[in-house]
Amino acid sequence: MVMLMKQRRKLRRVDVERAPRLGVIRPTSLGFRITVRLHDGQTPEDYGRVLDKLSHAWKVHSVRLVSWKPGKVTLVATLTDPLESVTIPVLSDGLLRVRVGLLDTGDPFTVDFRTVPHWLNVGATQSGKSNLANDLVVGLAPQPVALVGFDLKGGVEFTPYEARMSALATERAECADLLADLVGIIKDRMALCRRHRVKNIWHPRLPEVERPTPIVVLVDEVAELFLMADKKKEQDEVSAVATRLLRVAQLGRAFGIYLVVCGQRVGSDLGPGVTALRAQLTGRICHMVNDEETAKMALGDMDPGALVAARKISPAMPGTAVVIGSEGRWHRMRSVHVTEEQAEAAAATHAHLTPAWADLTAGTTTTGDLDLGDLEEFTAPDLEDLPV
Ligand SMILES: Nc1ncnc2c1ncn2[C@@H]1O[C@H](COP(=O)(O)OP(=O)(O)OP(=O)(O)O)[C@@H](O)[C@H]1O
Ligand SMILES: [Mg+2]
Repeated sequence: MVMLMKQRRKLRRVDVERAPRLGVIRPTSLGFRITVRLHDGQTPEDYGRVLDKLSHAWKVHSVRLVSWKPGKVTLVATLTDPLESVTIPVLSDGLLRVRVGLLDTGDPFTVDFRTVPHWLNVGATQSGKSNLANDLVVGLAPQPVALVGFDLKGGVEFTPYEARMSALATERAECADLLADLVGIIKDRMALCRRHRVKNIWHPRLPEVERPTPIVVLVDEVAELFLMADKKKEQDEVSAVATRLLRVAQLGRAFGIYLVVCGQRVGSDLGPGVTALRAQLTGRICHMVNDEETAKMALGDMDPGALVAARKISPAMPGTAVVIGSEGRWHRMRSVHVTEEQAEAAAATHAHLTPAWADLTAGTTTTGDLDLGDLEEFTAPDLEDLPV
């Protein structure tokens, strides 16, 4: 109690233009929460702008503005960084849900493909992108899902997990073929959904025996897919890859195909295909980056605080990222550390669950092309169609 009163006196000394009118300090597991009554003319943004100053003045790790009501804001202070050591394990948390890390609020961070189907995972070299992919391999390996790897780093990233992968492409030409297969699978699933008059494969009206296997596609070093080539043949390859990948992103959600796209750069200098793809990848994970531009590409025009937080990630804490998930708010997150050996062991243990690519593609006509009319019918599956 005495400590809280001392803290209260200290908080009062902070100058936010005028001395803040503080409510009761309520202790939380990681620090404290306090409501502040706004002075006439003040807005929550006035507090939003000075959170960094408040954290220094109050000598705490961070202060966040968590909510506001007319005339009041609620601030949450965290005394030390909960991300310094992340000790929770990866958790396979239901179909297509994997707990991959911890948020700086102390809450778990879960990648839930059914809520946010496609993810962009960016960061400088050694920032923790592959570690996050390892988390997903460990979490998805025991689930009834197919994993597909696009490993444009010559196969060094995903080959160790090949036992649990239904398909692995290590060169751009192979990626183009695999993407044509995926578009073929989409066409097939579209026909299935049409037959049953449903908008997506999760609809309860679709008989359980006919429900297709979900497919999670992991792409490492997306820039390699788009790098423009001089030769006509290579240019055609880039354009086929770009078109098919975009189709998969646009339609994947409805037909159980999900993307995790990792890369150091996702700038528009890689071509218009990348910009269109980025717009479809609504889940964002921005690890430490070397330039503001990449952070902007990853976090879009979020609250400028998200960009500041991304620029402040220390190389001493790999695996730390700024994330944007389903509710559109940003958080600092650190992934669970999973070594390549651990992910490889998980892939080997669950190798018997790997669906054969031939079974997934059976009956499909792999033209790699779709009519635009097909697209429109299925791009916006009703959320209420998703079983709870
Ligand atoms: N969450 C984490 N906790 C602790 N260490 C981590 C974490 N994430 C990554 N690391 C360590 O940081 C190093 C780099 O991680 P990682 O290989 O995932 O980076 P990357 O972004 O994929 O790099 P590159 O672009 O070179 O492939 C690894 O040695 C890994 O052990
Ligand atoms: Mg990597």
